[in-house]
Amino acid sequence: MRLIGKGAEAELREGRFITEGVVVKNRIEKKYRIKEIDVPLRKKRTKIEARLLSAAKKARVKVPLIYGLGEFEITMMRIEGKLLRDARATPLLLKLAGTYLARLHNLSIIHGDYTPANLMVDSKGELFVIDFGLGSFSKDLEDKAVDILLMKKALGDEKQYRTFLKGYETESKEFGRVMGQLTEVEKRGRYVVRAMQG
Ligand SMILES: Nc1ncnc2c1ncn2[C@@H]1O[C@H](COP(=O)(O)OP(=O)(O)O)[C@@H](O)[C@H]1O
Ligand SMILES: [Mg+2]
Repeated sequence: MRLIGKGAEAELREGRFITEGVVVKNRIEKKYRIKEIDVPLRKKRTKIEARLLSAAKKARVKVPLIYGLGEFEITMMRIEGKLLRDARATPLLLKLAGTYLARLHNLSIIHGDYTPANLMVDSKGELFVIDFGLGSFSKDLEDKAVDILLMKKALGDEKQYRTFLKGYETESKEFGRVMGQLTEVEKRGRYVVRAMQG
């Protein structure tokens, strides 16, 4: 299978299962971690990522379907399209990105790295959320606020951010509280980003 991506955590390969395009995300060994810690950690992260994907589907958020689950790897539907980062971020897509995040948060799903690099637009213009590799289940307002803040920083454009927020507001069950926390986090100027925790 062809290698399509190699991040800090995982290797991604694409292939075909009968007629369907698939992507296999394999959590690779980290040599600097002792085996006794590395193996259970990678197993746990793989399991959580699969659980988050299936919870997101229940939250009415478009995510790749899971075709198979191994100890360290997830085989999923391949999205034929491009990253939102590399596509034209229309107001409709930005608003839907916000709505999707609110739906996830309403069911206590934290994405952990919600940026245009982890959203994909397929050939029909449908928006998908990918990469729950840094996600978690949490009701914590701080975790929700940080998900929003990462998108704000990644967009770096006030107007685009406002459109995204409008979409979030339409479905969030605790918009005011999350916004209050976001103000707190920004004032403090310091927050824990899971993406940086290793
Ligand atoms: N289901 C998928 N369909 C198509 N491409 C995918 C899919 N999942 C991941 N990719 C591609 O692989 C890249 C890395 O996958 P991702 O899950 O984001 O892992 P990483 O932790 O390395 O960021 C993505 O940026 C995207 O280009
Ligand atoms: Mg990614």
